[in-house]
Amino acid sequence: MAQHPQAHPISAVHRLLRGGLIWLPALLLAGCFQDVKESTVHPETDTGRVIQHVYALVTWIDAVIFLIVLGLLLWAVFRYRESRFKPGEVPKQVHGNPMLELVWTVIPAVILVFIAVPTWQGIFRAAEPPTTDPVKVEAVGHQWFWEFDYPDKGFVTGNEMHLPLNRPALVHTTSKDVIHSFWVPRLAGKIDAIPGKENLVWFTPEVAGTFYGQCAEFCGTSHANMRMRVVVESEADFDAWVARMKQPQLASTPEAKEGEALFAQKFCVVCHTINGRPDAAGQVGPNLTDLRDRTTIAAGLLDNTAANLSHWIRAPRSIKPGVKMCWPPVDSPEAACGPLPVNEEEAQKIITYLDSPSAGATADYLQKAQGAAGATAQMK
Ligand code: CUA
Repeated sequence: MAQHPQAHPISAVHRLLRGGLIWLPALLLAGCFQDVKESTVHPETDTGRVIQHVYALVTWIDAVIFLIVLGLLLWAVFRYRESRFKPGEVPKQVHGNPMLELVWTVIPAVILVFIAVPTWQGIFRAAEPPTTDPVKVEAVGHQWFWEFDYPDKGFVTGNEMHLPLNRPALVHTTSKDVIHSFWVPRLAGKIDAIPGKENLVWFTPEVAGTFYGQCAEFCGTSHANMRMRVVVESEADFDAWVARMKQPQLASTPEAKEGEALFAQKFCVVCHTINGRPDAAGQVGPNLTDLRDRTTIAAGLLDNTAANLSHWIRAPRSIKPGVKMCWPPVDSPEAACGPLPVNEEEAQKIITYLDSPSAGATADYLQKAQGAAGATAQMK
């Protein structure tokens, strides 16, 4: 009686492997597209280009070596396959070949020297930051947000760093708690942010735009939620932003004024700073001055919209596990706590206050903001 062919248990594994092998190159190639927001292979700064040069050189050399080794391996497998020999027969045995050994010692040494030269050049260059008119920023890592301190300008902001185009930026990194890592792939990094120590990375942004960054050192529950943005803009736009950052939001409507009061009554001031507002000087959470200018909230997790802000204020731990923004106040991310004692109506008032333009905003900026608000109202 003929037996039914049974499905071999290996075949499922083979299918999976085959599927994986087909998709793997596609996955790898996906990293090469130009519009990838966090791509190290499309640098937009001088420092990024130096690193990219070494990286590309090593990658191409490695690719050639890989192909040569793979070719030789396949040749050996094919040339000395069992079916070419009689049973019990072995191919001609060889032992020792001084010339071959010399060649395969000298060639790697030459390749290493070839790689070492641009590597050293890059290291020496990184060790000497430019002194002509740089913008200094202290990037301080917190669980889980970034504090950006501009010591020469006298203010602090959170999660979104602004930099002027074509001027060197000196970013000193450190941390308030555990080790984090500053990384904006298209600009620079990674550079560790270590408590009690300062590291320096510098670069000159050459293209205007918003660049995406991410903490690149595992730092606890919400490590993956510790993102950042770097806004590169013209010198004039940068100066206008600095002026807005130096002064608090100006609550001009009754609702904004109520929000301003609630910001203290609901203890927001204990954790957050508003530059130029004496009662709001908390250091636990990010600085919230001129929040309306930020594209995101919650360390780059959500777009900066009223709906997202309301959700964030009322249920932050559902968005970012372990965040200390909860009630009663907690010291550690592991400690249990509930939502803030803020109802929906109060949250809306606080949002209206936070969304108010800075007292440092220029007439031009206010006019543009008015125009944008008018356009939005018309769209509704
Ligand atoms: Cu901070 Cu990972």
